[in-house]
Amino acid sequence: MKVTVVGAGAVGASCAEYIAIKNFASEVVLVDIKEGFAEGKAMDLMQTASLNGFDTQITGSTNDYSKTADSDVAVITSGIPRKPGMTREELISTNAGIVKTVAENIIKHSPNVIIIVVSNPMDTMTYLAHQALDLPKNRIIGMGGALDSARFKYRLAEALKAPISDVDGMVIGGHSDTGMIPLTRLATRNSVPVSEFLSADRLAEVKEATKVGGATLTKLLGTSAWYAPGAAVSSMVHAIANDSHKMFPCSCLLDGEYGLNDLSIGVPAIIGANGIERIVEIDLNDEEKEALANSATAVQKTNSLLS
Ligand code: 2OP
Repeated sequence: MKVTVVGAGAVGASCAEYIAIKNFASEVVLVDIKEGFAEGKAMDLMQTASLNGFDTQITGSTNDYSKTADSDVAVITSGIPRKPGMTREELISTNAGIVKTVAENIIKHSPNVIIIVVSNPMDTMTYLAHQALDLPKNRIIGMGGALDSARFKYRLAEALKAPISDVDGMVIGGHSDTGMIPLTRLATRNSVPVSEFLSADRLAEVKEATKVGGATLTKLLGTSAWYAPGAAVSSMVHAIANDSHKMFPCSCLLDGEYGLNDLSIGVPAIIGANGIERIVEIDLNDEEKEALANSATAVQKTNSLLS
């Protein structure tokens, strides 16, 4: 499998590293506009191959998309990250033009590619990619819910004082500080609902900590996080490579599912060789339905800022 990762910054390089370490891809091409940056990151990563035991060939390219030709999957991480105090939505004016150009360059050389969008505001950038490329909607996926769910599980395990391997949970909705919906009602500790262990107040705290998980790290780091975002998107690439039919919450272009149309937002989906194999409509209670409708309204408001 050949994977292109556009944007050799912290998220892109972490994604490339995790893909290589999982050793399922024959080739990863890192692309960046900064002269020599992708080449340097690729060479540094390749010098871990004997230490980390992978055969994946990682190469770098300074904005030459011919080297990405015939990629199976392309990950778009390019654009600026947010600074402390910023919302992801504030990045739209800079990142929209970058993501559109990158998406068009990718498809020019890889007509059959599956694209995963990471750049923020992610749901709107994913919608933009759909508008720009007009591909079958299963072939453009936004990564947000996989990351948010990982943060949800981290916060649940912390509250439960349980090993994270005992915890399961999913976050749907927009990938935004206010729009994401950690599904506390469905979260489990080794198949037992977490409400058996945690009070409603404590679960509310877990929910809020999850929603601002990205902002919390941006405040600590001075920039957006990269390890968990890189790991989250690499797990989706892995599911495509292995045709795993693994279920992730991810940003999918909706055409009536959950009563929503003409936007991309985080919903459960089965991910396999075709990208989105199918969207899964789970039963939501009235509170969750209302939260998803409100989240969709917020995403559509951000989409309306696209020129
Ligand atoms: C995050 O939440 C970068 O949006 C990403 O960390």
